[in-house]
Amino acid sequence: MSQQQLMQRKADATPRGVGVMCGFFVDRAKNAEIWDVEGRRYIDFAGGIGVLNTGHLHDKVRQAVAEQLTRFSHTCYQVVPYESYIELAEKLNRLTPGQHAKKTALFTTGAEAVENAVKVARAFTGRPGVIAFGGAFHGRTMMGMALTGKVVPYKVGFGPFPGDIYHAPYPNALHGVSVEDSIAGLEKLFKYDVDPSRIAAIIYEPVQGEGGFYVAPAEWVRKLRQLCDLHGILLIADEVQAGFARTGKLFASEHYDVQPDLITMAKSLAGGFPLSALTGRAEVMDAPAPGGLGGTYAGNPLSIAAALAVIDAMASEGLIERAETLGQLLKEKLHGLKKDVPQIAEIRGLGAMVAVEFNQPGSHAPDAEFAKAVQARALADGLILLTCGGYGNVLRFLFPLTIEDAVFDEALGKLEKALRG
Ligand SMILES: Cc1ncc(COP(=O)(O)O)c(C=O)c1O
Repeated sequence: MSQQQLMQRKADATPRGVGVMCGFFVDRAKNAEIWDVEGRRYIDFAGGIGVLNTGHLHDKVRQAVAEQLTRFSHTCYQVVPYESYIELAEKLNRLTPGQHAKKTALFTTGAEAVENAVKVARAFTGRPGVIAFGGAFHGRTMMGMALTGKVVPYKVGFGPFPGDIYHAPYPNALHGVSVEDSIAGLEKLFKYDVDPSRIAAIIYEPVQGEGGFYVAPAEWVRKLRQLCDLHGILLIADEVQAGFARTGKLFASEHYDVQPDLITMAKSLAGGFPLSALTGRAEVMDAPAPGGLGGTYAGNPLSIAAALAVIDAMASEGLIERAETLGQLLKEKLHGLKKDVPQIAEIRGLGAMVAVEFNQPGSHAPDAEFAKAVQARALADGLILLTCGGYGNVLRFLFPLTIEDAVFDEALGKLEKALRG
């Protein structure tokens, strides 16, 4: 069947709300490459939106899932438990930042991990309020949308959202928001909107994902921690996009000298299989009563097998170090192009969580059209790129960290061509 016919069937059978970026359909994929149903090859710099830090069908992941499939695929952990759930929880308790006693609960999607972080924080503190930040993305469930700090397209027409959710500005030097401005925003919330004693948690992304790959300044994270300690508020780091080696550390929070009380993770945790996790202080995680946490598919055995293989591969294949190397090469490439591409306003990122932001030449006005044009030219040339940012004027790079050197070089060549127009 041709891609045109498939597109027609898609339009007839599925709602437009599930927006689709590419005009072709995948047939197969391996590591950092995808082939469509007509045999055309693409280099995948999107990684299923940050899910494939270990690439498509990593051998270890495939073998682990295949082996699990010979034993059982589902019992529902809450009905008949399995050891692998505990093994992964023990690993995450050990690997996440902080030496304190921790516990982990597993879920299926990133949004679900966020939902459960809020549930746990409310149960522990007995308080309703949650503070998130402008530009944040925390998922598409009701609470996820409420916490998300971007209206179009995520929140339009879907309210009302859960109450007691507040937003403060995320620090963003390029857009004129300093650390002091952000903290002043929080203080204003406490003055004008809500007493801090009603706030259960502050949730932040150490590096904003959909929001534009803005890196949280260390001083700001320290101040968040101080404010939380002062008012008895829990600090939640949403590492759904930034976690699992992307930033050159297993967790982005390791770049900072303070520890969150709760960490949400998903995406590259299980290399393409649906799995999310919430890890936090043991006493906090134990606040909800038995039966309060879980889900039919939460902690699916196939996904857990994949996650254990991912964690093993990240260590044995040096992917954390490789994130740093690849990120550096990409940044060098982009810096080298800056003088010829006047739209480049900023090149930033931690490790391989790199982005380039475009403004109209000689101005501070965001240039989303240019970002879109570069994305389209790259796609036509066989390179899949994602945009992000509050104005859609940022290109972000989420290639597998396992990408072969030759494929990475080829992709950088295509990126240069697309940027030069
Ligand atoms: C930081 C962050 N939190 C939560 C989510 C929601 O994850 P999911 O789409 O798996 O529900 C995302 C997804 O992009 C994310 O980037």
